Amino acid sequence: MTSDPTLKTQTPLLMTDISFRDAVFEGLGATPKTLPCKFFYDAEGSRLFDKICELPEYYVTRVDLQLHRDHLDDIVRVLGDDALMAEFGSGSSIKTRLLLDKHKSLAGYVPIDISEKHLLATAAALRKRYPKLAILPVVADYTSDVKLPEFPREPKRVVVYFPGSSIGNFTHEESSAFLERARRLAGENGGLLIGIDMQKPLSVLLPAYNDAAGVTAAFNLNLLVRINKELGGNFELGQFEHQAIYNEREGRIEMLLISRRAQSARVAGREFNFARGEAILTEYSHKYTLEGFARTAAKAGLKIEKVWQDANKWFSLAYLTVA
Ligand code: AVJ
Repeated sequence: MTSDPTLKTQTPLLMTDISFRDAVFEGLGATPKTLPCKFFYDAEGSRLFDKICELPEYYVTRVDLQLHRDHLDDIVRVLGDDALMAEFGSGSSIKTRLLLDKHKSLAGYVPIDISEKHLLATAAALRKRYPKLAILPVVADYTSDVKLPEFPREPKRVVVYFPGSSIGNFTHEESSAFLERARRLAGENGGLLIGIDMQKPLSVLLPAYNDAAGVTAAFNLNLLVRINKELGGNFELGQFEHQAIYNEREGRIEMLLISRRAQSARVAGREFNFARGEAILTEYSHKYTLEGFARTAAKAGLKIEKVWQDANKWFSLAYLTVA
């Protein structure tokens, strides 16, 4: 790997730095400007996200967790005996532990995460708590193809677990492609247990992404903090403002960083100009109707076999199988 003399990093470049830099170059060079939301989650970003999950305005985590609690027996029954559960994302969540506590005959658990450090810490903690369960972590970016490891005990069925509505980050096209990969991973008699955030009044939706304590703002701005730290950027953090809007036509929250004035910022030797009021789009969070989600699933060859919803229908946990 060659080092870039324009990069002001003291430590040798890792592959992840290169891809981060290239993604930043590409996103800030585009019109409109974008930054990929997967880079939110460094240590500080993960800490801020955990804080978001405890905000009174952020209903997502609370409702998702309550659905798990209310329907745990049912969910475990649907997974079935000798199922192998593969989770996309961190796997350290209370929801995961609820399932692992209750399901007495899992063939194994495969947490899949992009952050090796986080993943191995999580796996170690889970091994302590579930010494008899086969836990085989896989370091991978679940937005591309993932292979399951060899298993000591042949599972009856593979179930991909994807709670928390992270699928909302994808466009509908990306969602179908993602679901199709998940379907192939789960195989013919497998399934997908997935969290979906539903369309709801703006009076609920907007505060969830524009919280009074400013935690979501800090989470969003942390992308620029990361660029400054890891790529030698010189963004003036006070000159960008967090905003989350709802795009009615697309049915999604859009997280933005708005330039408070005309300004420029240098990143790894390149200069990027911002007009006053210009936005960097940092995240989509799509909100679904059940019909809309069923259409997306159908494009991936999946059908909704079972769905659990709260009384307000703010969130859904769906079990998908091959159509
Ligand atoms: C982790 C993608 C589910 O979209 O609600 C929370 C991320 N962004 N607040 C979401 C997020 C701002 C979250 N997901």
